[in-house]
Amino acid sequence: MEMKSQADLLILAKKAMESSYSPYSKFKVGAALYSKDGKVFTGTNIENISYGLTMCAERVALFKAVSEGHTIFTDLVLTSSTQSPTFPCGACRQVLIEFSPEIKIHIDGISKHYLLDDLLPNRFK
Ligand code: THU
Repeated sequence: MEMKSQADLLILAKKAMESSYSPYSKFKVGAALYSKDGKVFTGTNIENISYGLTMCAERVALFKAVSEGHTIFTDLVLTSSTQSPTFPCGACRQVLIEFSPEIKIHIDGISKHYLLDDLLPNRFK
């Protein structure tokens, strides 16, 4: 199985972002989640006229993966349509950590990676 690099994952996240359905915020987000068994699951944000029903890119990617039987992840690459870096929201951090406390979070525009323990200290468990 061919390993995906961080650069490969960023390309896939950007590709997913092209499908963003975000007519209300006009803010596009793309995510690429890499599973331990070497598969990539992408996601983008999907908004709704009833704003609260909006789903983030990260959770779209994660739910796609889990629903196909992939539950352990090594890397998440996140990109967005803005110049400034976009971090996963609190809800996505909690949902990601459920499956992969060790996952490395790569934010487009920032060279270092983040760990969920740092992004979500003293989490509910
Ligand atoms: N959004 C994400 O897709 N991921 C995040 O982590 C933060 C926010 C989306 C939801 C909504 O469509 C738009 O960004 C503005 O909040």
